[in-house]
Amino acid sequence: MPGSLTIRPAVTGDLDLVRWALYTALAWDPEDPIPPFEAVVDHPKIAVYHAGWMRPGDAGVVAEVDGEAVGMAYCRLFPDGGDSQGFVDEETPELAVAVRAEHRDRGIGGRLITALFEMLAAAGVRRMSLSVSAGNPAERLYRRLGFRTEREEEGGDLVMVADL
Ligand SMILES: CC(C)(COP(=O)(O)OP(=O)(O)OC[C@H]1O[C@@H](n2cnc3c(N)ncnc32)[C@H](O)[C@@H]1OP(=O)(O)O)[C@@H](O)C(=O)NCCC(=O)NCCS
Repeated sequence: MPGSLTIRPAVTGDLDLVRWALYTALAWDPEDPIPPFEAVVDHPKIAVYHAGWMRPGDAGVVAEVDGEAVGMAYCRLFPDGGDSQGFVDEETPELAVAVRAEHRDRGIGGRLITALFEMLAAAGVRRMSLSVSAGNPAERLYRRLGFRTEREEEGGDLVMVADL
């Protein structure tokens, strides 16, 4: 039986979890494996999503079962312009989310994103963006939570935005 789920705010010491969530999100497609963890996460194009965690504008939430992290949603502002895939503008943080495979489809991802929405709305943030690959079933979850298509990239990846 799974233990009880708690959701806590992310802290500076959660960098490893941030890196795990980012890699897990990038590795979403089991049919299309990606290179090993360090090669991906420390690549300069990917490191922009976690370097210096938690810098101003970073925020996150961690789902724990019996004190063990099973999922994370976090977001980051890109104040210097669009070096991230889901960049919309300098006031709109970009989301990444992942839940450990054995804990999926129990509502944890939805609860994490909702908790992050509430945290950011309370801090005066008005919108959140994300980038989702063509064919990732996570798109359905995002639509259910209020994300809509902002633009479609070449290849079908979507940049989506939600009002908080
Ligand atoms: C996306 C993810 C965080 C959702 O977490 P979760 O705890 O399963 O989410 P919930 O239980 O709240 O919601 C399940 C929803 O996720 C969708 N979903 C996402 N990935 C899925 C998958 N691989 N298989 C089936 N459904 C999936 C389902 O459509 C479902 O939506 P529905 O309730 O409308 O049917 C989790 O599937 C995950 O970690 N996936 C791999 C990483 C990833 O793709 N991250 C997003 C990158 S943009």
